[in-house]
Amino acid sequence: MAEILNGKEVAAKLRKRIAAECEELKKTGIQPGLAVILVGNNPASQVYVRNKKRGCEEVGFYSESYELPEDTTEKELLELIDRLNHDDKIHGILTQLPLPGHLSDKTVIDAISPEKDVDAFSERNVGKIMIGDHDFLPCTPAGIMAILKEYGISCDGKKCVVIGRSNIVGKPMAMLMLHDNGTVTVCHSHTKNLKEITRDADIIVVAIGKADFLTGDMIKEGAVVIDVGMNRRGDGKLTGDVDFASCEPKCSYITPVPGGVGPMTITMLLQNTLTSAKKHAEKQ
Ligand code: GUN
Repeated sequence: MAEILNGKEVAAKLRKRIAAECEELKKTGIQPGLAVILVGNNPASQVYVRNKKRGCEEVGFYSESYELPEDTTEKELLELIDRLNHDDKIHGILTQLPLPGHLSDKTVIDAISPEKDVDAFSERNVGKIMIGDHDFLPCTPAGIMAILKEYGISCDGKKCVVIGRSNIVGKPMAMLMLHDNGTVTVCHSHTKNLKEITRDADIIVVAIGKADFLTGDMIKEGAVVIDVGMNRRGDGKLTGDVDFASCEPKCSYITPVPGGVGPMTITMLLQNTLTSAKKHAEKQ
């Protein structure tokens, strides 16, 4: 029987600390502020943006959200970002991805001032993470590292396997585990003999967006399993990338879906916004 890694509980604890620090910062005349930009009508993105706004309210941040039409031009979006880059009330800016096809993710992300890039997606912030000298950590991998830390699980000397190689999760996840002295293998759709690799792993992070992909026969006894997946089943129920029923009896620790990694992601976004506001305060 595995111990459940309760992301909801860890997130609540961290949000309390963030709220307390926000209160302190407000006494110096600075309220952390986040601007969230959504272009188009992607229903999943609408939910994420709403939750980000709610997260801000919960910890006492100022927030602005921009819901722009699907046919917004790159020029219009870049003008908005430029205005927010120069707005002293705003310490963090994010554009929810994916953007509609006619807009370039890269152009838009790199238009955000690196000091306000609280997703840590820009070239400069990705580069800083690579060399271990970061200002902001990417939210989902940072949330996972925070859960591991809370439960006293270190990557030091462990065989760590990341399934998925996205810029948002897989690649930065591998880097953070490497910085924590793990021996990291990144697996993806072209990986041969995946099961041989996962069965040898001490810690597995699954982020490929395939429902119930990791099954009990693919892991060893005592493995730590982290599920980043958020998939909707035919019946509308939320399910992860891990087949919880077959993995849980073999794991030492496992994250549930929902209530595992999900609540941590927005918490780390709030943490990054707080960090940015504090830096801004130091400069004054
Ligand atoms: N789309 C999916 N995950 C994320 C995220 O962490 N940040 C942004 N901006 N868009 C996303």
